[in-house]
Amino acid sequence: MIYVETPRLVLRNWRESDRDLFREINADPKVMEYFPGRRSYSEADAMLERVRRMIVYHGIGFFAMAIKDTDEPIGFCGLALPSLEPHLPKGTVEIGWRLATRFWGNGYVTEAARALLRFGFIEHDMTEIVSFAVADNRRSTAVMERIGMVADPAGDFDHPRVPDSHPHLKRHVLYRLTAEQFHLTRQT
Ligand SMILES: CC(C)(COP(=O)(O)OP(=O)(O)OC[C@H]1O[C@@H](n2cnc3c(N)ncnc32)[C@H](O)[C@@H]1OP(=O)(O)O)[C@@H](O)C(=O)NCCC(=O)NCCS
Repeated sequence: MIYVETPRLVLRNWRESDRDLFREINADPKVMEYFPGRRSYSEADAMLERVRRMIVYHGIGFFAMAIKDTDEPIGFCGLALPSLEPHLPKGTVEIGWRLATRFWGNGYVTEAARALLRFGFIEHDMTEIVSFAVADNRRSTAVMERIGMVADPAGDFDHPRVPDSHPHLKRHVLYRLTAEQFHLTRQT
């Protein structure tokens, strides 16, 4: 099922044929530079199953992102419900992304993320969408800024699931966009 469509991309649930791409992005040291570790194939498979189920049960999640003309999967982009209390209240919606390196630099994630904001705020009537990343992850925070999200330094936090063995990856910056800000920007 296709959830979101853009001029160049579709965001859909995962297919068996996407497994290799999902394994690839989770094992690539460049893609995983700001995560505490890469995932083995079996860990990636387990994560893929969780992601698939989330999409089926909630109608949102980290969708497979594929090139529209060829259906080739290139990464993921989606809306999810992180468990990060007390830093983020239960029910907070996060926007997130991960793209195979050979597709970086084409504006794909910005295009998908803008469409996801419309999906969240217009089709699902969400009140706020947040995003967070390790502060040094400029490629990711650049996407947040391009799609109009606003830094909230007071909300920056140490990620509770980053182990003490990786202190430089603990601090996360928080960006937010409210429905009001989204609709105001759309009118101008
Ligand atoms: C974060 C990540 C998704 C960003 O990917 P990206 O390719 O830089 O982002 P976009 O798809 O929005 O592309 C933007 C780039 O494409 C360029 N571009 C080319 N054509 C474009 C177009 N038609 N429209 C917009 N930008 C375009 C932009 O100039 C920009 O290039 P720059 O990086 O040289 O400034 C990617 O680096 C990644 O997967 N990182 C690893 C995983 C990760 O850290 N995820 C986030 C965890 S919080």
